[in-house]
Amino acid sequence: MSENSVTITDNRNGSQAEFEILNPVVGNSCIDVRQLNAKLGLFTYDPGFQATASCKSDITYIDGDEGILRYRGYPIEQLAEQSNYLETSYLLMYGELPTESQYREFEHSIKHHTIVHEALMQFINGFNNNAHPMAMMVGVVGALSAFYHDSLDISDPQHRDLSARRLLAKVPTIAALCYRHASGKPPVYPRNKLGYIENLLHMMFSFPSEDYLVSPIAARAMELIFVLHADHEQNASTSTVRLSSSSGANPYACIAAGIASLWGPAHGGANEAVIRMLEEISNPSEIPGYVKRAKDKDDDYRLMGFGHRIYKNHDPRATIIRKACNDLLDELEGINQPMFEIAKQLERIALEDDYFVERNLYPNVDFYSGIILKALDMPLNMFTVVFAMARTAGWISQWGEMMTDNEQRIGRPRQLYMGDELRDYVDIRQR
Ligand code: CMC
Repeated sequence: MSENSVTITDNRNGSQAEFEILNPVVGNSCIDVRQLNAKLGLFTYDPGFQATASCKSDITYIDGDEGILRYRGYPIEQLAEQSNYLETSYLLMYGELPTESQYREFEHSIKHHTIVHEALMQFINGFNNNAHPMAMMVGVVGALSAFYHDSLDISDPQHRDLSARRLLAKVPTIAALCYRHASGKPPVYPRNKLGYIENLLHMMFSFPSEDYLVSPIAARAMELIFVLHADHEQNASTSTVRLSSSSGANPYACIAAGIASLWGPAHGGANEAVIRMLEEISNPSEIPGYVKRAKDKDDDYRLMGFGHRIYKNHDPRATIIRKACNDLLDELEGINQPMFEIAKQLERIALEDDYFVERNLYPNVDFYSGIILKALDMPLNMFTVVFAMARTAGWISQWGEMMTDNEQRIGRPRQLYMGDELRDYVDIRQR
């Protein structure tokens, strides 16, 4: 019997089998249960994959207890301070920080893929003006697969790389076009002389009739939000991308599936929920009433933007973005909305009140990113779209990794069947 194994005994009949323990570089070890059914005739039951690793990955490491987030081994704190979104995307996609020439080539290539096919505009124009931009994103990003037949052979590494770069380049263009359409503004084409984030702000907020200067404050804050949200290992949307691509589906369709999953309020919608909560509170004098409700066991009301499923001590992204949020509010002169005062008071309460301190309910990354996006005048229904744009780097990197993993198979979870065992069909007149 190997030391690096566990033995499972089925107490119903005494049968036993040994299973290897797989050890990671850091983090929790895993029992390799792939032979469980063959050896013991059993499956595992784990709704929501709370104790199940669905893949091996070299990309992102999280330790929720210690508040650690690393991309390819680099601490998020260092990347947030010293890198930018494009360089971070390169790191996630290719595993190493680029040399200067690699970075120049990558940046040039991404900039030269930003334009979308003109025919795609007809898809966007076909939506009602009141369509939610995330609904448009799901459809239009998926529709990209109808335009790029030249790069859909997922067994070809060059095709995969071209598709990944096209997605990174075109998702912001599509997002901006969706926003412009929904707000009745004319479309704005990308400008290659601008950086990735500046270009996004230009496409969203400029007017063809006027010069537009990208605010360096806004660009810096957005860059940070993008770096912090670029990847978060096997979360719901990333797992969706992996599961849908396990059947060999094309990457554009799979990223569209990831966007659909991210749209859910339990995933990408939290920063929008923060602003809705602050709007609802509306006046600092109302705060105690809402805090009382959040603490009341008989009331399921929760303060949005507080607590985290994985980070139980602190969310490293929240620590970084909190400072940026405070700097931004200080820098943006004249921004004196009561909403930001309410946010500051709530933050203070959460950091001092016993209820929040005992339960580690500190403000999370969405609390601060919601406030930053609001301060930058980003429309509320674009908040999750910002998250989707940033997470595209993670999705394409995880997809690319999966494509070269020879242990991956089509995703096919098992189930614990609890329905009727066997019934005879009854004629409709006799029911
Ligand atoms: N306000 C008030 N009480 C809370 C809150 C909150 N936001 N969050 C948790 N609690 C209480 C909860 O009632 C429970 O109390 P008790 O021990 O007395 O029963 C205790 O804290 C533990 O809560 P839990 O539900 O077991 O914690 P969880 O890990 O299951 O939930 C969470 C994590 C993020 C779903 C939850 O904190 C929450 O609903 N927060 C508000 C929504 C939010 O901000 N979501 C965004 C999270 S970050 C997303 C991302 O990283 O992508």
